[in-house]
Amino acid sequence: MSESQVWDAVDAYFTEHLSPDDEVTAAALRDSEAAGLPPISVTANQGKLLQLLAQVQGARTVLEIGTLGGYSTIWLARALPPEGRLISLEYSPRHAEVARRNIARAGLDGQVEVRVGPALESLPRLADENPPPFDLVFIDADKGNNPHYVEWALRLTREGSLIVLDNVARGGRVVDAGSTADDVRGTRAAIELIGSHPRLSGTAIQTVGGKGYDGFALARVLG
Ligand code: SAH
Ligand code: DHB
Ligand code: MG
Repeated sequence: MSESQVWDAVDAYFTEHLSPDDEVTAAALRDSEAAGLPPISVTANQGKLLQLLAQVQGARTVLEIGTLGGYSTIWLARALPPEGRLISLEYSPRHAEVARRNIARAGLDGQVEVRVGPALESLPRLADENPPPFDLVFIDADKGNNPHYVEWALRLTREGSLIVLDNVARGGRVVDAGSTADDVRGTRAAIELIGSHPRLSGTAIQTVGGKGYDGFALARVLG
């Protein structure tokens, strides 16, 4: 077995025992694929990590940037108490429509709201509503805007909130300081912002398995 085959096998083993898809999450993936959405949701193990983070956080309010078909949304929303609320921002009306169906089938449509539009337009509108601070923000949209999303997350959270960024390793491309690719530049800017910001304490974990070599950054909001 090659190294990456070993990583896939181990991911499959962990998933089978710790975070298997159920009918609802499996159907969300199936319908997303059938609708032609790109197969770039978090994996089941990663979804379970997000869910556990939200639970450890005692999250009642979650903000997600980048819904796709609602797969990560479902994992996160399942961590919420009955009165909890999740708002997910999605650029594509087509993705949002698929996501809303998947979320409704999961019985989470009372708690989850998908808002369509470029997140950098939805975020100021959301801020104007003066929502209670979000306990967890999951950033997983266009990576070039990652530093802007981290700044918005800071405005919409409180001391003790958690900010999670997906896709921070990108097969190792993140270390290419001279890259002109938007995703690399945006992710590097976000990592460096987290590292230098007086109100953030962060780290990043590298992941292998179902989605190849990638990673998550985690940042706690300080007072
Ligand atoms: N969080 C999802 C995957 C999101 S994929 C999951 O793990 O299941 C990234 C999504 O971000 C895509 O659906 C894409 O349409 C959306 N997106 C891209 N640019 C965006 C923008 N400017 N504002 C909001 N969403 C955006
Ligand atoms: C891409 C986006 C993601 O959010 C992800 O998890 C993997 C890939 C992409 O745009 O290629
Ligand atoms: Mg992602």
